[in-house]
Amino acid sequence: MYNGGKILFGILIFLALVTFPFYNDIGKANVRPEPKINTPEIQKLSEKQCVESQAFMKANHMTLLNEWRDSAVRGGNRTYVASDGKKYTISLQNTCLRCHSNKKEFCDTCHSYAGVNPYCWDCHIAPKGAKK
Ligand code: HEC
Ligand code: HEC
Ligand code: HEC
Repeated sequence: MYNGGKILFGILIFLALVTFPFYNDIGKANVRPEPKINTPEIQKLSEKQCVESQAFMKANHMTLLNEWRDSAVRGGNRTYVASDGKKYTISLQNTCLRCHSNKKEFCDTCHSYAGVNPYCWDCHIAPKGAKK
C-alpha cells in the first residue's frame, strides 16, 4: 500500500530543513545599520548636510573618494566644488573624518553590515576608537 500521509510528512520536514538557513537569517539581515551622525563637528553645523545629498553619498561615496584621491594625487587639485557650489578641502582624514569622527559608529557599522572592509586605513589615519 502506498502511504501518502507519511510521504507528505517527509516532504514537509525536508522543506523545513532546507529553508531553515533562510528564515533563520531574516531577523539578522533586517537589522539595518543606523550610521550615527551625532558628532561634535556635525552638531555645530547649521545645516546638517554632507558634501553632497544623503542619497548621493549613500550610493556614491566610494566613487567620490576615488575621484578625490585622483584629483589630489594625480591632478594636484585639493579643492572640491560640490554641486551646490560649496567648497571643501579634498582630504579623507581632515574633511570626511573631521565631520564623521565616529568612524566606528558611522563608516564601520555600514561596512561590516555590507561585508566590505576598505583598506584605506592601512595608510590613512583613522580617528581614535574612543573618540566620538
Ligand atoms: C598604500 C597606502 C594608501 C592606501 C592603502 C590608501 N591611500 Fe589614499 N593616499 C595615500 C597617499 C600617500 C596619499 C597622498 C597624500 C598627500 O599627497 O597628501 C593619499 C591621498 C588620498 C586622498 C587625497 C588626499 C587626502 O589627504 O585625503 C584621498 C581622498 C585618498 N587617498 C583616499 C583613499 C581611500 C578612499 C582609500 C581606500 C579605498 C585609500 N586612500 C587608500 C596612500 C594610501
Ligand atoms: C560638513 C560635515 C561633513 C563632511 C565634510 C562630510 N560629511 Fe558625510 N554626512 C554629513 C551629514 C550631516 C550627513 C547626514 C546627511 C543627511 O542626513 O541628510 C552625512 C551623510 C553621509 C553619508 C550617508 C549616511 C547615510 O545614513 O546614508 C555618507 C556615506 C557620508 N556622509 C560619507 C562621507 C564621506 C565619504 C565624506 C568625505 C568625502 C563626508 N561624508 C564628508 C556631514 C559631513
Ligand atoms: C550608509 C552606509 C555606509 C556608510 C555610512 C559608509 N559606507 Fe562606505 N560603503 C558602503 C557600502 C554598502 C559599500 C560597498 C559598496 C559596493 O561594494 O558597491 C561601501 C564601500 C566603501 C568604499 C569602497 C571599498 C571597496 O572595497 O570597494 C570606501 C573607500 C568607503 N566605503 C569609505 C567610507 C568611509 C570613509 C565612510 C565614513 C566616512 C563610509 N564609507 C561610510 C556603505 C557605507
